[in-house]
Formats: sequence, structure tokens, C-alpha cells
Amino acid sequence: MAPRVSLDRRDFLKSAGMTALVGSVSVATAAGAGLPVEAVEPPDGKHDFDTVYNRIGTDCTKWDRQIRLYGAGSIAVGMGIADMDFRAAPAITKALQDRLAHENWGYLDMPRSFIDSIVSWNKRRYGVEIDPNTLVIAAGVHPALIAALQTFSPRGSKVLMQTPVYDGFYTDLRFAGVKAEESPLRLVDGRYSMDFEDLERRISHDTNTLILCNPQNPTGNCWSADDLTRLGEICLRRRVVVLADEIHCDFVNKGHKYTPFASLPNKAIVDNSITFKAASKSFGLAAHKIGWFYSTNPDLLSRVRANHRADLSTLGVVANRAAYDGGEEWLNQLVAYIDGNHDYVEQFVRDNMPFVKYRKAEGTYLAWLDVSALGKRIDAVGLAEAANKTRNASTAPLTPENMVERYFVSNAKVHMNPGSSYGLGGDGRMRMNIATSRKLLELALTNLAKATRA
Ligand SMILES: Cc1ncc(COP(=O)(O)O)c(C=O)c1O
Repeated sequence: MAPRVSLDRRDFLKSAGMTALVGSVSVATAAGAGLPVEAVEPPDGKHDFDTVYNRIGTDCTKWDRQIRLYGAGSIAVGMGIADMDFRAAPAITKALQDRLAHENWGYLDMPRSFIDSIVSWNKRRYGVEIDPNTLVIAAGVHPALIAALQTFSPRGSKVLMQTPVYDGFYTDLRFAGVKAEESPLRLVDGRYSMDFEDLERRISHDTNTLILCNPQNPTGNCWSADDLTRLGEICLRRRVVVLADEIHCDFVNKGHKYTPFASLPNKAIVDNSITFKAASKSFGLAAHKIGWFYSTNPDLLSRVRANHRADLSTLGVVANRAAYDGGEEWLNQLVAYIDGNHDYVEQFVRDNMPFVKYRKAEGTYLAWLDVSALGKRIDAVGLAEAANKTRNASTAPLTPENMVERYFVSNAKVHMNPGSSYGLGGDGRMRMNIATSRKLLELALTNLAKATRA
């Protein structure tokens, strides 16, 4: 592994013959993105996820956008967009504060140490060896995925996705000028599985890519090595490149496992893929705009590189590197806390919400609720039809799930995402983001229970 390249201002001043000035310059010791980051642990070793951390007034999508949309006092708990309500890991805050002490914001030279941090994180946490030369830093998973789509899928061609799936993929597809070919997941007794026959049937001469989501947003499935191998065999045989989005990989509940696509034993299958990841979900760093991708196939990688440009911010690099270098214990404790939140939701819904069903997810911090009975009870279909009659024809029609979304805001002051945004199979569902303190979760569920009984 390459030595860390650090910004040592004393060395620099010495080599520039400016030693005499050292005393008069305030040296911000951890100013560089390249200096080692230490974990910062609380005195009792226990990180605090229970204290409510108020995000209102910070221009955040999860809370402020909903308050702007629905009005002041309308939202008691924002449970939509997939980011977290917790205070950041102390190692991240410390690294950012240290960097802020150096008051210059010129162009960034990407430190090799950041690549090393990602490589070593993947090795120790998931047992995946990534050749540093095959790792590309991006300004988030979205721009990286768009570059890959633009590389392999000509405009107008089809991209396979297993639905319901992350709504942001549809935006990426629109941006790249390609169409979704949706293969619905099978749903049996509340459990989702891949439908391989359907998947293969949907591949045609103009299907060049498949976007895989593992762990799956919104169902929470952690796909097994068998699932991934079967999917990988089909894609290899039918010449469909697998774009594996594994951004949710750190949130895995007890008894389940995250299997990186790149860890499959069949090299040809792995060579037919590119993996996209980030620290943004794991550490709540979405606003710092950093993701990365890698592939064991130099040809696929160089073609995407040619279509990809990333302009990164210094603070983004500092925060992300601090997460990987000093945030692991914080994350371990958080993953256990989220697992507990899933248990709490499952039990609460079973005991208190007769019109809602929830089967505990295998991973992610998302709870995929079955609200079909509630939808019937409030006549969500009729409400949507009535609302669409008076709606401007240029806007997308409202769905029954949009009506459930509004019903929950009006009657419970809780905002969640409507299942209809996630493609085929999203009807009768709502996605609840449970990456919040147990107190807010309890408040939200209590409000929702009252609203479902009203
Ligand atoms: C599956 C998945 N991929 C990508 C993203 C967004 O990634 P980024 O913010 O790095 O562009 C999200 C955010 O919710 C997601 O759930």
C-alpha cells in the first residue's frame, strides 16, 4: 500500500527556505486530507443514537422540504428520503473541524490515502480485495451510474431492473435517455425473491445493462450468493452488464449477510460487472457528494472512465476518509441500533396497526410497509381519481399511494414515501425510513396507529 501523502506545512516551509516564518504561521496540523484520522470514542464507549438531533432549519430534504410543501407544524416526523437523523460520527466532525482551521479552499489534489482507506475498509469489512488502480472516485453513485448507462446503453435502449426498486434509478434512466424494463420481484408470504424466468424473458437485443440493488431498496432484501450467481449467469450469457449498486451494504440485520457481487467465485460473472458504492448511507454523508466504483474488468472500467468526470470537494474527501478510518465502531453500534428499530417497528405494527403489515427487512434502514388494507379503508383509489380530475394535465397523475402519503401527513404528521414511486409492485406500499432516534420512531408509530384507527 502506498504511504500516506500528507500535507506537512513544516516540511514544506523548510524546503521552501521559509523556516524562519514557521513561528509566525498558525499551523493547522490536520489540515490535509491525507493525515491519518483517529477514531474518536465517547468516554463510556457507547455512541448516543437516542438523543433527538433536530435537523429542522438546515435545508434538509427529509424534514425541511416536507415542511415547505405541507406547511409549518405539518410534520412531526420526517421519514422519507434515505438519510439519517443522527449526529455524525465524532471522527468525521473532528476531521472536518481540523480542516476548517486551515482557511484556504483552493483546488484539491485527490490524496492517495483516500483510495487506500476505501481499499482497506473493503478488505477488512467485507473481505473484498480491490486493486486501487481499478477504483474510481465519483461525485456520488448517481453520476457514476449515469456514466455507466451512457457507456453501455444507447439512447432508447432498455435497462433491466427488479422492482419495486429505488426510485432514483428511474431519474438516472431518464437522464441517460434509456427505458426501464421492469422485472417484478416475486412476493410470497411477505417475502420477496428474484424471478429468474421473468428476468431472462425480458432481455431483448436492446437490453445491455441491468441495475442490481443489493441490499435492496426498498424491500430490504440481502441477496444470497446463489441469487447473485444465477442472476450473474443469465446476464453473462445474454451479454447484459451488471451494474451492482451496493450503497446500503452496511445495514444488515441479525441473521443476514451482505454478499458483494464482486466476491462471487465465478470470475467471468464478476468480470461482467461494475460495483457502485459510497460511505454516504452508512455515515450520513449524502450532502458531501462522494461515491466510487470499481470493476475487475479493465475494458468495462476504461469505457466508463471515458464518460465520467468527478469534481469533488475537499470537505467531502476529508469527511469520507475520516468515516472509513475512524468511524467503524460508531457504525457497528449504529447498525445494531437500526436492527433494534426494525424489531421495534415489526412488534409495534403487529400489536397496534391492524390495517398495516410489516415483515422485518433483512437489511437497509428502510421499512417497506404494506398499507393496502388502509388504502381500501380510506378509498385511496377514489381519492386519487377525484384529485386527478382537477389536476393540471402536464403534471404526473396522483396515485392511490400519494393519497395515503397525504393521509398520513394530515392525520399523523408523518411523512413517508409512496410505494408507487418504486415501479411495478409498489402499489399498496409505503417506504418508512427508520434511521432515527427510538423516541421519534415511537412518536411516529403512535401517531400512525391513531391515524389508522381513526
Ligand atoms: C440504492 C441507492 N443508490 C444510490 C443512491 C444515491 O446515491 P448518491 O447520493 O451517492 O448519488 C441511493 C439513495 O437513496 C440509493 O438508495
